[in-house]
Amino acid sequence: ALRSVVVGTGSCLPGRAVTNAMLAERVETSDEWIVQRTGIRQRHIAGEGETTVSLGTQAARAALDAAGLGPEAIDLVICATSTPDHTFPAAATEIQAALGIGRGAAFDLQAVCAGFVFALTTADKFLSTGAAKRALVIGAETFSRIVDWEDRTTCVLFGDGAGAVVLEAREEGERGVLSSSLRSDGRHRDKLYVDGGPGSTGTTGHLRMEGKDVFRFAVGQVTDVIVDAFEKAGLTADDLDWFVPHQANRRIIEASADKLGIAREKIVMTVDRHGNTSAASIPLALDVAARDGRLKPGDLVMIEAIGGGFSWGAALIRW
Ligand code: ACO
Repeated sequence: ALRSVVVGTGSCLPGRAVTNAMLAERVETSDEWIVQRTGIRQRHIAGEGETTVSLGTQAARAALDAAGLGPEAIDLVICATSTPDHTFPAAATEIQAALGIGRGAAFDLQAVCAGFVFALTTADKFLSTGAAKRALVIGAETFSRIVDWEDRTTCVLFGDGAGAVVLEAREEGERGVLSSSLRSDGRHRDKLYVDGGPGSTGTTGHLRMEGKDVFRFAVGQVTDVIVDAFEKAGLTADDLDWFVPHQANRRIIEASADKLGIAREKIVMTVDRHGNTSAASIPLALDVAARDGRLKPGDLVMIEAIGGGFSWGAALIRW
């Protein structure tokens, strides 16, 4: 049987870092409020010429370099994003073209903040069945373009960026994606959504959120997919080396880890520097931890996310 092994990671952040103090000049907020409620100290915000596609392309290039592969090695590109440059074509095909990849399939996957977990799971199905050999799985977002910059309850939370991994199909060994678990429940759409789109206002719209309800759901419900992913692999939280959750909020992350019995030292936390970058947050965090030497081959890594829909998921990877 074939397994999908992570052979490289990469990421890209916009050049401009925006601190809480800088935001406090724009809306009525404070560094103290933001840090205490969310753990966020700064986020990167895209400037002119920095787009979901340009950030995603640079992250993908860095992942290919880390893997020691050229673009011709890739026969599947999946980009998780809710903020593509255009309604269509897919950001994935724009990235594919920018990288000079002329074969295989490329498509976007839309599961908001859970997008990267859904995309990695989808790529794993292609690779483990032999339908593709090497996949670029990208999470790329520019939420700064859909947040309401007048709304202090949401605009302080989000940032822009991109991360990518290269997955390679290999004959079954120790390493690779071991299990995954995905869920959605569209009845919660009003808790977190964008109030625009081609079928409604005809404009891009802005992000709207019931923060307290999202918080409650994230901590109360999301552990089901993590438990399921552990069970499918026959492993437990004690076996885990690193917990790399979606980076929305320090309090959500720590409460989830505590509930699952995952030691705080095993958490990879980047929300302080990146803010919530939606589908980009997990591959960004994976790249940070891979490059600083925390993630080592053979380590057991759990990724997990929840986002609009709601959609949520988890995947267990032997790094
Ligand atoms: N600065 C200062 N004050 C603020 C700000 C701000 N940026 N935003 C809200 N406030 C005020 C409110 O107006 C309110 O004032 P009031 O008491 O006078 O009415 C007070 O602070 C408390 O507001 P709450 O909304 O009750 O604050 P809460 O403790 O719930 O924290 C937060 C809000 C941080 C959004 C929290 O609910 C949360 O983390 N929710 C999860 C949302 C999330 O992370 N979503 C990301 C997308 S989904 C995902 O990725 C998981």
